[in-house]
Amino acid sequence: MSASVLRIDGLRVKVAGTEILRGVDLEVRSGEVHALMGPNGSGKSTLSHALMGRGDYEVTGGSVTIDGEELLGLPTWERARRGLFLAMQYPVEVPGVPIDALVGAALRAAGRADGEAARELVAAEARALGLREELLRRGVNDEYSGGEQKRAETVQLAVLRPRFAVLDEIDSGLDVDALRDVARRIARLAAEQGLGVLAITHYARLLSELRPDRVHVLLAGRVVLSGGPELADRLEERGYEGIAAEVGVDELTVGVPRPPEPFADPTAGSDPFADPFA
Ligand SMILES: Nc1ncnc2c1ncn2[C@@H]1O[C@H](COP(=O)(O)OP(=O)(O)OP(=O)(O)O)[C@@H](O)[C@H]1O
Ligand SMILES: [Mg+2]
Repeated sequence: MSASVLRIDGLRVKVAGTEILRGVDLEVRSGEVHALMGPNGSGKSTLSHALMGRGDYEVTGGSVTIDGEELLGLPTWERARRGLFLAMQYPVEVPGVPIDALVGAALRAAGRADGEAARELVAAEARALGLREELLRRGVNDEYSGGEQKRAETVQLAVLRPRFAVLDEIDSGLDVDALRDVARRIARLAAEQGLGVLAITHYARLLSELRPDRVHVLLAGRVVLSGGPELADRLEERGYEGIAAEVGVDELTVGVPRPPEPFADPTAGSDPFADPFA
């Protein structure tokens, strides 16, 4: 597979009238693993949905390209056809449509496999990722547990082999063993198939297995800091408030100012431990 670049440039997105993304810049190349971290409500999932073309998200500026070709404005299926994959934070249930039917349709459309071959690919990946066979007969995510959903997303990713995958909290709800299996599978796809990964996560634990090339911090709709894997450890130590103070950003999430630091200077202002009824 030839090397590609996913480039996000000055992306601005409004949701329900509020600007959530305020100029996001990111670049992911084939075979690279990038981690995107940020506090709750900073816009990580909004970015993932906007990349995939969710209809109720209004893009007000910027561009998203793969190898220079603009994706914004294209329908979701067309973005998928060009090699973009999204594992959603909260995957949707598709009762009545099993994984192999879903994935098989995509593989057939791409002229890559027939129904029987798709079934075998799905079964093999499911075995490797410890997804019970019985689940493959149910509709996708139909009454799956949280962990089963994330394994199933990884099965789809491994079979579909997109060029770029946005993984929105693929680690949430996974037990320790599953987390290791999922992370290793993704790392292998990056190393062997040249998959470019943008992994959204809250936890350094995933990153210790996934070993990102770059870590980015999203605060209030902007990437305010990027660095190597050591940035994840610094975050763990300092918290987002610490990082925000470091880079001189006032908001962690859009519209919500950083809370005052109650222990900053005990001689200034009121005593946080004072009896309010005194
Ligand atoms: N469809 C929507 N309608 C209204 N507000 C929305 C919608 N989608 C997102 N938002 C708001 O946009 C902000 C960013 O949400 P988003 O889901 O992108 O955060 P996040 O960084 O993924 O957080 P988390 O770590 O909790 O998953 C939040 O304040 C959220 O309430
Ligand atoms: Mg989210």
